[in-house]
Amino acid sequence: MKDDVNDLKSSVNRRSFVKGGLTAAGAATVGTGLITHSSSLLAEDRDEDHRGRLARGDAALLRFAAAAEILEADFWIQYNELGGVQDSEVPGGSGNPEYTAKLAAIDDDFPQYIHDNTDDEITHFKFLNAYLRSKGADAVNLNQFRTLEGSTATGSSKKPRLTNLTKLTLDTSWYTRYRSSNHNPDLDPDFNFPQAVPDLAKDKFTAIPRTDDDLTPTDHIQAIVNTAMFHMPTIEQGGNSLYPSMAQRATSVEVLRILISIGPTETMHFQTWSDLAGDAPPLTDPTNGLTFPDLNAPPFGGETFTTKLIMPEPCPFLSRELPRCSVIRPTKTGGVATGALRFLTAMGLFIGQSPAFFEFMRDLAADADRARRGRD
Ligand SMILES: [Fe+2]
Ligand SMILES: [Fe+2]
Repeated sequence: MKDDVNDLKSSVNRRSFVKGGLTAAGAATVGTGLITHSSSLLAEDRDEDHRGRLARGDAALLRFAAAAEILEADFWIQYNELGGVQDSEVPGGSGNPEYTAKLAAIDDDFPQYIHDNTDDEITHFKFLNAYLRSKGADAVNLNQFRTLEGSTATGSSKKPRLTNLTKLTLDTSWYTRYRSSNHNPDLDPDFNFPQAVPDLAKDKFTAIPRTDDDLTPTDHIQAIVNTAMFHMPTIEQGGNSLYPSMAQRATSVEVLRILISIGPTETMHFQTWSDLAGDAPPLTDPTNGLTFPDLNAPPFGGETFTTKLIMPEPCPFLSRELPRCSVIRPTKTGGVATGALRFLTAMGLFIGQSPAFFEFMRDLAADADRARRGRD
C-alpha cells in the first residue's frame, strides 16, 4: 500500500494533467520511458515513446483502471484479513478462525484463493500507477477517502476502509447471463436475466462477520460465507467485462497490451469464484430470512441454474446474423467506466463514502469514457 501513500501529491495535480496535458514532471521524463529498450517495438510504439507521453485518453483509461483496482484491493484485503491465508505477502489481519473454517469447509483452497486474488489486485493498482508515473502522467491516490469502519471481528486489522462489505446488495444475474444461449446484454439491453439468489438483490447483507456476534448461530455465519461466495464472482465478472470494453478505445498498442493482459486475470478470478459459488449450501439465515436456494432443484435447475454448468454458453455476438460464440459479455465500450462505477455503487460497495469521493470517481470515469482510439 506504500505506493498508494506516495501518490498523494500527484493526485492533487490530476486536473492540471487532464486539462493541460503534461505536468512538469512529465516533461522531464520525455524519452526516458521504461519501455524504450526493445528494438523490436512496433513503429507505433516507437512514435509514442518518442513523444514520451500517453495520449490523454490512454492516461484516463489507465487512471480509471487504477482507481478500480485500488478499490478492489481494499475489499479483498478485508476478505483476506478475516478469511485468507495470513502471511507477509498480504499483511494486515490475523484471520478469523470460524469464518476461515467455514470457507475451508467449502474448499480446502478457499483461503489460498482469497490470498492470491488479494495479491493480484494489489499488483494491479501498483503496476498501473507506476506505469502512469513512468510516462509522466499522474497516478491515482484514494487515501483521503479511507474513512469507513470495517469489521471489528477477531482477525480484522480494524483499519479505516475505502469500501463497505457489510451492507451489500448483489445483482447475481451474471450467473444466468453466462448460461443463456439466446441473449447477450450488448444485443438485448432490456432482457432481464434471472437472479441466481433473488434475496441478495432485495436488501443489504454482510459478506464478512461484522463483529464476533456474527459468528453464531451456525446458519447465520454460513449465510455470511454464502454472501461472500456470490459477491466475489459478482464483482470479478465486472472487471472481466470492464477491461475488454475499455481496451477498444486505447490508442497506444502498449496501453492496449496492458488492458488485455490484466483483463483476463479478472476472468480467471471470475471463473474460479463462479465455480465455487455453485457449492454454497442452500439454507435460510435464521436471523434475517436470507435464503440461498437449491440451484439444482425445481423451480431452479436446468440449463439456467445447474451448478456444474460453469463454462460460458455460446451466445449471439455482434450480430444475430453471425453464428453464436462463447464470449465475455457485455463488452460494449460506450460509457463503460461510468457504468462500472454505477454497478459498484448500486452494490453498496461505497455506502458511507463522502460526496467528494463520488465526485472524484465520477470525474475519473467521465474522463475515461471520453477516450477515443486514435485521438489524444
Ligand atoms: Fe484487478
Ligand atoms: Fe479482480
